[in-house]
Amino acid sequence: MKEKELQGLSDINITEFQQDLLSWFEKEQRDLPWRKNSDPYRVWVSEIMLQQTRVDTVIPFYNRFMDWFPTIEDFADADEEKVLKSWEGLGYYSRVRNLHSAAKEVREAYGGIVPDKPEEISKLKGVGPYTAGAILSIAYGKAEPAVDGNVMRVLSRILKIKEDIAKPKTRILFERAVRGLIDHDHPSFFNQALMELGALICTPGTPACLLCPVRSHCQAFQEGIQSELPIKIKKKKTRNVPLVAAVLTNEKGEFLIHKRPSEGLLANMWEFPNFEIHTELMTKREYFAEEFRKLFEAVADIGELVAEIDHVFSHLVWKIDAFKGTVSSHIDSTMLENQQYKWVSEKEIEQYAFSVSHQKIMTGYKNSQ
Ligand code: ADE
Repeated sequence: MKEKELQGLSDINITEFQQDLLSWFEKEQRDLPWRKNSDPYRVWVSEIMLQQTRVDTVIPFYNRFMDWFPTIEDFADADEEKVLKSWEGLGYYSRVRNLHSAAKEVREAYGGIVPDKPEEISKLKGVGPYTAGAILSIAYGKAEPAVDGNVMRVLSRILKIKEDIAKPKTRILFERAVRGLIDHDHPSFFNQALMELGALICTPGTPACLLCPVRSHCQAFQEGIQSELPIKIKKKKTRNVPLVAAVLTNEKGEFLIHKRPSEGLLANMWEFPNFEIHTELMTKREYFAEEFRKLFEAVADIGELVAEIDHVFSHLVWKIDAFKGTVSSHIDSTMLENQQYKWVSEKEIEQYAFSVSHQKIMTGYKNSQ
């Protein structure tokens, strides 16, 4: 291995590691319903259910699912109502919709046999790299990595990998690590053993190292840094910014528009007048009218809501309620200019660059006319 991130691989006795891990798994593995046999359909369903749901929660759902749909044909033939019902309470319902269309695809394109080639299986709806690897290894005995968060936690400790596991490309590094470690004679048990170790011993926070079958191979344990791994850099929370906006017209039918500051978000773009809301004590209409009065000493009559828009930026989300309204009092033109506002006709407005969210506001306005 040439990469420095995978230095740890060259310091490990791979054969002994495999032996220690597998003999532990053979003795200690939990008796779980999807481990009864290696039917690819059963493995597939279990892996999809387990993606966002804990093992204890999954078990009764899984058993009922297999009662209702014992084979992939039964499932592919089932009607939507019943399929959704089978998932009721599990959440993330797109999982079962994808699973259902993928099952039909397997019936049509592969004669009801779950494909065993990485390229084919990966094309099925809802089958990402983890699920593909899990099915290929557990059901078909292929030496493919199945890297989820648990596996990254375990291997980050064993191999002292300090890459940020929140980054999508880090999974690929861990897949290379698994390719370097996997037991080619027992890929199913090898992958399941890593998962099981992550679930039972090598848990988040403080792992149970004293019970760990591969402690002697663990580079994090040797340095006492097991609780510091894996590195997972928290994404900054995207902040919701509530805004109230208005498409304001005057007696001439002109629109009031505002140029954003020359620095920061959407610099120099044009927009309809809007204010960030800092209180819940007023209605949004009142809030707009009050802010507008403070700004221009003028009255804006605020009418109906014309658009509700969520606009997602990388670090924040604008939640805009946009109204229409009229301004009948005169606003001093120097004051307008100073504040970077201007009145423009419906024709002129087309020459100004508006952000997508404010284009949507204009569309909402036009639809309301
Ligand atoms: N979590 C994800 N896949 C699993 C499996 N096959 N067994 C136990 N836990 C799991």
